[in-house]
Amino acid sequence: MSKTVLIGSQWGDEGKGKIIDVLTANADWVVRYQGGNNAGHTVEIGDQKYVLHLTPSGILREECKCVIGNGLVVDIIGLQSELTELVDRGIKLDGRLFISDRAHIVLPYHKALDGTKEGKLEAGKKIGTTKRGIGPCYMDKADRIGLRMGDILEADFIDRVREMTADKNIIIESMGGEALDIDQVAADITEAANYLKPFICDTIPLLHKAVQDNDEILFEGAQGVMLDIDFGTYPFVTSSSTGAGGAPAGSGIPPNAIDRVIGIVKAYTTRVGEGPFPTELFDEMGAHIAKVGHEFGATTGRPRRCGWFDAVVAKYSAMVGGINEWALMKLDVLDAVETIKVCVGYEVDGEKIDTVPASLSKLARCKPIYEDFKGWNCPTTGCTSWDELPEQAKKYVAYIEEITGVKVSILSVGPKRASTLLLDR
Ligand code: GDP
Ligand code: IMO
Ligand code: MG
Repeated sequence: MSKTVLIGSQWGDEGKGKIIDVLTANADWVVRYQGGNNAGHTVEIGDQKYVLHLTPSGILREECKCVIGNGLVVDIIGLQSELTELVDRGIKLDGRLFISDRAHIVLPYHKALDGTKEGKLEAGKKIGTTKRGIGPCYMDKADRIGLRMGDILEADFIDRVREMTADKNIIIESMGGEALDIDQVAADITEAANYLKPFICDTIPLLHKAVQDNDEILFEGAQGVMLDIDFGTYPFVTSSSTGAGGAPAGSGIPPNAIDRVIGIVKAYTTRVGEGPFPTELFDEMGAHIAKVGHEFGATTGRPRRCGWFDAVVAKYSAMVGGINEWALMKLDVLDAVETIKVCVGYEVDGEKIDTVPASLSKLARCKPIYEDFKGWNCPTTGCTSWDELPEQAKKYVAYIEEITGVKVSILSVGPKRASTLLLDR
């Protein structure tokens, strides 16, 4: 039984929710290990659509147990409403959902600070965050002043929330924001904390036992390698380690327990929020991909920026992420594209490079070097096997494998479970 990490390998929204759902058919556990409800993972089952923000996508399969690991920042009010909605839709949580007592809590002041800071930044400096309080919460964690899920079980929890809110109100006001109503915060947090109490536990021994029992475990990454705090397009990144390295740190399982890393990439590229994006399209083709791919953020509803597949980004992600295989998503979105382009390198300052520079100004000067690829011009969504794919589509997949040096083991040609090809070539 494998211990598999699935990571987004572009700028997020690659289709992680869908692939987790497909692979969960055989999994005992699904573990989230970083991020918070900045994530929006979509799973479509029949005519039902679920968008999960904090809950691991395995929650939709009754036999699967789910862990919200220590590496997450948990907006407990958001999680309560997410779980209530799932319960209303017939999902059972008891004995299936475990929240680490070490995970940090996103409090209303984190969201207020996120929004106020973003609002004050001038154009060009805004990160375009989801305003879910992610950065400010991880800041408090690093500053060692955060409140953790386990604190909910202590008698002085609400007093600490009140004290922290009073302290943060001073900062919020000094930034031109509006101070929070401390009584209201205390009431809202009390309600959410009481709802979540039964799910809070020490998840580390649970996961160690699962490893010892050789259970099938999936680690569900959020965001993508290019949004990683270290490896992404800093500062236009999120505040956590989105790569496979985040999984042991954010769940407590030993690094050497991981035996498989699947990188998830779209057959093109998208990004939501600000920051560099070398293959971004500003023309009709970009609009076509956005329209056919329904490229709107699952969390904020913002339109996603669209562009061609960037093999430099994919290779870089594979390198830092230890990716052994790709899940290549949304191939169907390119069904009607005459000529598909793939970025195979960058030209910058008269030089040709094939890795992602750390310097943002250098990255901004990078001009993609493209290779053209003839499209297949017919639908792929109904295809259920490799043999049924149009020849040109097969060639495109093979080309991406060749140029990135990583095999495609899963191919997705539509949002539903059935539109997934597990390739064994
Ligand atoms: P995640 O954050 O990585 O889980 O991805 P999102 O859920 O934010 O965005 C992916 C979107 O693409 C969702 O609306 C999915 O339903 C949809 N999707 C996933 N795979 C495919 C596919 O192969 N084809 C098409 N057309 N849509 C897909
Ligand atoms: P999933 O898991 C796409 C982006 C935001 C912003 C930057 C920082 O669904 O792929 P943050 O709120 O994290 O401080 O915002 O990161 N971002 C995402 N983009 N998918 C996500 O999650 C994202 N989570 C954060 O748009 O540019
Ligand atoms: Mg998403």
